Amino acid sequence: LSTQLIDRFGRRVSYVRISITDRCDFRCLYCMNEDTVFLPRAQILTLEEILTVAKAFVELGVEKIRITGGEPLVRKGAIDLLHEIGKLRGLRELVLTTNGSQLEKTAPLLKSAGVKRINVSLDSLKPDRFREMTRVGDCAKVLRGIDAALDVGFERLKINSVVLKNRNHDEVGDLVAYAIAKGIDISFIEEMPLGLVEGHDRASEYYSSDEIKRDLDQRFTLLPTPETTGGPSRYYRVSGTNTRVGFISPHSHNFCASCNRVRVTAEGRLLLCLGNEHSIDLKRVLRANPGDMPKLKHAIVESMSIKPERHHFDIKAQPVIFRHMNATGG
Ligand code: GTP
Ligand code: 5AD
Ligand code: SF4
Repeated sequence: LSTQLIDRFGRRVSYVRISITDRCDFRCLYCMNEDTVFLPRAQILTLEEILTVAKAFVELGVEKIRITGGEPLVRKGAIDLLHEIGKLRGLRELVLTTNGSQLEKTAPLLKSAGVKRINVSLDSLKPDRFREMTRVGDCAKVLRGIDAALDVGFERLKINSVVLKNRNHDEVGDLVAYAIAKGIDISFIEEMPLGLVEGHDRASEYYSSDEIKRDLDQRFTLLPTPETTGGPSRYYRVSGTNTRVGFISPHSHNFCASCNRVRVTAEGRLLLCLGNEHSIDLKRVLRANPGDMPKLKHAIVESMSIKPERHHFDIKAQPVIFRHMNATGG
């Protein structure tokens, strides 16, 4: 059996994003509807199954695992699971993407579980606006969570901000200033059209990375750098600071040619591209063949033949992907 995952386009998959729950305590307006109904427990992978999947990927040469959600830290047992995944031999980086709502209390546990880096979603520093974008979130609590993570020694903390025109586009400079003050990184994300969200018009709220960059150039000196964190961000260093500003630009600067990743949904679907439906059902393989690691690995290796070349997102059209981001993990 091959020990590496390589797709038809010669891209090596070294990064797996695992969504451990579709549940979330926020309701971000670009991610899901306010009345979203979450999956029944029996439909999502058990913690044991997730660990088995992680182990299979690591044995197939995967070096980086990012745990996502929904909000991963609302799942009971998340910390123990991280601890177990962190022990897998061959894994270089165990990382986490979180909305930050639980960070204040979990930061020390995440550190001792072996999490290397944390990306925290933060679209606004203004409590009212933060509440509008997340529908229910408490900005101050997230900011305390970020401080708690810094206090326990997480270094390469990164903020993720989805930028929407006339919602938070006027705040990009203040978000960078905040990142500089904390000595952390920040990435700005162009929204991706996943699932229909009521009351949010994606086409008219689109704000491109180039517009953000132009706005930031008024206030900071951004120097391009080839540095990478292994994800889709293209980085600039803010001159005279410790902060990198990243741009995730699925629409304006397609990054699929260098794709190194796949994701596993909370339901155990191995999704080969965020912007397509090509997938295989790992849950079925796991449940039909309990304990059969070779079979699981074989299914994963085979899936490389259906990884698509790229996404075809069109922010101006109705979404063709019906799945919402919370069910995918981003
Ligand atoms: P780093 O390890 O810090 O580079 O993180 P990352 O950017 O890989 O992960 P994160 O969870 O912080 O994701 C930030 C944004 O990038 C989210 O909006 C993701 O949906 C998006 N993203 C990550 N990987 C892909 C991808 O393969 N394709 C697309 N279209 N978007 C992606
Ligand atoms: N487009 C782009 N990014 C999104 N995220 C959630 N939904 C979308 C979307 N439709 C972001 C979250 C989080 C990351 C995992 O994905 O804000 O930072
Ligand atoms: Fe890879 Fe698909 Fe993301 Fe493009 S959209 S970078 S091909 S997962």
